[in-house]
Amino acid sequence: MCGIVGYIGREDIKEILLDGLRELEYRGYDSAGVAILEDEEIQSFKAIGKLKNLEEKTKNFSTNGFGLGIGHTRWATHGKPTELNAHPHLGEFSYVVHNGIIENYQELKKKLIQKGYNFLSQTDTEVIVHLFEENYKQENETFKAFEKTVEMLAGAYAILLITKADPNTIYFAKNGSPMIVGNDEKGDIYFGSSDAALIGKASEVIYLSDGDYGYTKEGEIKIFNDKTEKALQKKPLIGDKISAQKDGYRFFMEKEIYEQSEVLGDTIMGRVLDEKIKFDELDENFFEGINQIQFCACGTSYNSALACSYLFERQAKIKSFVEIASEFRYKEPLLSKDTLFVVISQSGETADTLEALKMAKKAGLKTLAICNVDNSSIVRISDYTLLTRAGIEKGVASTKAFATQVMVMWMLALYLAQIRNTMSAEELKAEISTIRHIPKTVIVEDSLHEKIKRLSKRYLHGHGFFFIGRDLFYPLALEGALKLKEISYLHAEGYPAGEMKHGPIALADSELFTIALMPKSVHYDKIKSNVEELSARDATILAISPLEFDLADDFIKTNYSDHPMSEFFEMMVITQLLALEISVRLGNDVDMPRNLAKSVTVE
Ligand code: F6R
Repeated sequence: MCGIVGYIGREDIKEILLDGLRELEYRGYDSAGVAILEDEEIQSFKAIGKLKNLEEKTKNFSTNGFGLGIGHTRWATHGKPTELNAHPHLGEFSYVVHNGIIENYQELKKKLIQKGYNFLSQTDTEVIVHLFEENYKQENETFKAFEKTVEMLAGAYAILLITKADPNTIYFAKNGSPMIVGNDEKGDIYFGSSDAALIGKASEVIYLSDGDYGYTKEGEIKIFNDKTEKALQKKPLIGDKISAQKDGYRFFMEKEIYEQSEVLGDTIMGRVLDEKIKFDELDENFFEGINQIQFCACGTSYNSALACSYLFERQAKIKSFVEIASEFRYKEPLLSKDTLFVVISQSGETADTLEALKMAKKAGLKTLAICNVDNSSIVRISDYTLLTRAGIEKGVASTKAFATQVMVMWMLALYLAQIRNTMSAEELKAEISTIRHIPKTVIVEDSLHEKIKRLSKRYLHGHGFFFIGRDLFYPLALEGALKLKEISYLHAEGYPAGEMKHGPIALADSELFTIALMPKSVHYDKIKSNVEELSARDATILAISPLEFDLADDFIKTNYSDHPMSEFFEMMVITQLLALEISVRLGNDVDMPRNLAKSVTVE
């Protein structure tokens, strides 16, 4: 989730690029940079951290004639957030910015190094600019060289490239990552990763499709797909910037729920091969001598770890236990060196998790972070890190961070299963094919969202909610209840369904709302009888299941899948939407609920 901008025209190029980047900072902000081509010379500036650092660095620079430029705000996926890894990346005479992940960058890089190219960064992006220059040497024609470069890339990308070999042109390509190109009445050209960067500047825009590439000059836009020129489908650009940042959704949380399909695609990209799981970030030897895994986290991150601990035991056959970080810190835990200590954190700054990590390090344990923010305190301290690649999460109630954490840990469980030989090749292939399907599973259908909107009006009062589930669906019940509590301020508990009869069932009456997670693939009959017991005590029941359930007051039908994780992700989206819609009906501030902060850096 990086952001990119571009401009061709006669206004102050730097100001136009910085303006655009300001609007895209919500997509990532661990570093930013611009490259500006004027009078056949390219000037480039980069700075780590927020955009204001780049503003400071460029404050004495301006342009006042025709020129062009590209800019980028980064959310690290490959390589640390350093100035060298910040975009634009340079070759000998060209610069590139890129959003997405080039899956085949390692093999391209190897070939380019053999040809004598020198790489300065750890990023996948840098291959693009060297590849372009290599192709230019062969073709001696910039557009052909660019077209050939795009053909050689695998993965997701939105790319802008400028080159001294053709100083009046910006080359672009889009596949899987968003990019918009537009123009104003004067013929100035603008690029951006979302409308927000172009509003107030471009009057009409083209939303590029996957596979589109081409070039722009002053007053001219040429788009190709599969070597054929396309007609330009321009649309007027209207709207305000804040709603553009929300991509037309009412709340960031809603946008982030809808974004889960895209970010889960980013999470698995390059890590899920045809027959195996690969993490470039890890070294297999790191796991030598490890006999158990201790997960440690807070809140939603704890829930994701708890869910995945079932997978680690089942798939990698490794003993796994999960602890809430604030409890772990003070229980004087007995730690043994055959334990891998895994911390999970969206922000990477949660005080309790950070302190628990320090304790584990001090005790000499190997440590691994599952985190969304590169260069955060937790990432810096851990021996190894797997980034979740969710992009910035603005809604205080975590949604896409949870989804991507679960996905990373599921892949890690399979990675360990490979190392430990606990799964057959066939089983692994089946898992991989399910993983590949998950981004589709979490796409929100209009009909589902409408149904939940309607249902939500029946769940605004009463004396509380019980989210119940068994197995993996118990942590999902915990997470569903946490979401609802946070943004609706209604009392909700997540409970293992089989435990209800040991106490909480005493609460059951028609004012007790039960949200029952009833997957077909996991202990369906068991959970069914738990829900029947509640129904017999007149509890109001919303059943979520692929199988019709007569005793439910309300029912949301899910798709049948024989893989629990497919059912898990589908039900996850339903519980998120339910919390959202109840909160909306209650008139609460969905994105900034009372008493909560996005990152809890105090004990
Ligand atoms: C819930 C939520 C919190 C966080 C918790 C840990 O929606 O966001 O429960 O999960 O504060 O935060 P991180 O993951 O940043 O360590």
